[in-house]
Amino acid sequence: MSDRVYIFDTTLRDGEQSPGASMNTAEKLRLATQLEKLGVDILEAGFPAASEGDFEAVSEIAKKLKTTVVAGLARANKGDIDKAWGAVQHAVKPRIHTFIATSDIHLKYKLKMNRDEVVKAAVEAVRYAKGFTDNVEFSAEDGSRSDRDFLCKIFGAAIEAGAIVLNLPDTVGYAIPSEFAEMVRYVIEHTPNMHKAILSVHCHNDLGLATANTLAAIHAGARQAEVTINGIGERAGNTSLEEVVMALHTRQNYIPFSTGIRTEFIYPTSRQVSRITGIVVQPNKAIVGANAFAHEAGIHQDGVLKNPMTYEIMKPETIGLSANKLVLGKHSGRHALRDRLKDMGYDLSDEELKLVFDKFKELADKKKHVMDEDLEAIVAEGILRSAEVFRLEYLHVSSGTSVMPMASVELSINGRKVRGAEWGNGPIDAAYNAIAKLVGTTSELMRFAISAITGGTDALGEVTVRLKENGLTALGKGSDADIITASAKAYINGLNRLEYLKEHPVTATPQMV
Ligand code: KIV
Ligand code: ZN
Repeated sequence: MSDRVYIFDTTLRDGEQSPGASMNTAEKLRLATQLEKLGVDILEAGFPAASEGDFEAVSEIAKKLKTTVVAGLARANKGDIDKAWGAVQHAVKPRIHTFIATSDIHLKYKLKMNRDEVVKAAVEAVRYAKGFTDNVEFSAEDGSRSDRDFLCKIFGAAIEAGAIVLNLPDTVGYAIPSEFAEMVRYVIEHTPNMHKAILSVHCHNDLGLATANTLAAIHAGARQAEVTINGIGERAGNTSLEEVVMALHTRQNYIPFSTGIRTEFIYPTSRQVSRITGIVVQPNKAIVGANAFAHEAGIHQDGVLKNPMTYEIMKPETIGLSANKLVLGKHSGRHALRDRLKDMGYDLSDEELKLVFDKFKELADKKKHVMDEDLEAIVAEGILRSAEVFRLEYLHVSSGTSVMPMASVELSINGRKVRGAEWGNGPIDAAYNAIAKLVGTTSELMRFAISAITGGTDALGEVTVRLKENGLTALGKGSDADIITASAKAYINGLNRLEYLKEHPVTATPQMV
């Protein structure tokens, strides 16, 4: 059996199912380009039947990527498969990924089908997809809670119909590593013609075991791992790409398998995903968390100074975490900025660089040292935000110990300038009231968090908000040296994302059949 493990990234599909993590086409394209640079083998770009927006994003990604397999998800029906093919057909290497649930509980309550009917639907779907491309993957949704012999039967039938990858998902994050490994071994041993296909696993993190289950499955013979950056995804998330890849990389002596991932792009990719989705990486997150390489205890620091390997099992540089975090200042030129951004994973066009450079100079005038985190914020503000309906043009607040806080705001709404002023309990409340009135939003502010991007009183303030309107949720992020402006930008970013969701309604999700 080969020792190569294929990395199937589903950040743009299952990852996007994280609450509030919707991305627009431009953002998905940028991330897809970064994921190709990272070296993922297969990129699941979306679920084209879910919405017009998903279809468009998958098509654009398929046209853009040069070396990566681009997969589109489809339920086991002709309509979904037509849509998936319609979107991925432009790819250099297209894949159709079709699925149907196989557990008795899903059959009885969700599908209302018996096992024979499910096998028939799976076979028909794979055959139909095979009419478009040889690269067809079949997934048995809720596989980990399915009867093992039924799994072997449906996988065998899917191989006969032409599937080249069989995916065994732990859809609800229920499996335990030793049990999952045993299941993988059983399926590999008992599925007819398994040698003609690759077994894949796709785990969710409901019990915090997604990475452990994925590694156990690889050890037991699985050769494709379905993962997301930062482990984002439905509910508690999916298996995290960086954890699986770095576990394989670090523990070659125990699990001697390789991937095609260029590990030095892990950290920049993690940062981009966090920036674009607005989902903050928890500080103690393995590999990419802010504290992942920080040694607090004196005894550890002493050891690390004598020999880093006393307490460090990985080098920060391996994942692209630069030791030299202090980068540029007001005398730095455009070239230095471009080089630094390139190291951070941002390949900007001349036009984009100009925009970022102007903002960088503005910040460098206020702040002596411009750090990587500041640059990320500038890129996010200037480049990653696209498709804006609302834009902040002007903000003035007055507040203090003995004045009623008031905000005057000018917005451009689809290019038309509007102005207004409102009172509030504090300056942020006043700014939000003024913006809400101008936009006419009925959204509710579910969460508001503010933090400093770097240390010091001159640090950029970063604000994250979660907005909800008519069942839609969106995250918004904003940063600025002024925290009231950062708050206004975050609110407006959230409102823009809500607008995008309204214009691109999701008509189906993978859990609906
Ligand atoms: O979790 C799951 O079962 C899925 C499938 C659609 C592969 O995401
Ligand atoms: Zn999933």
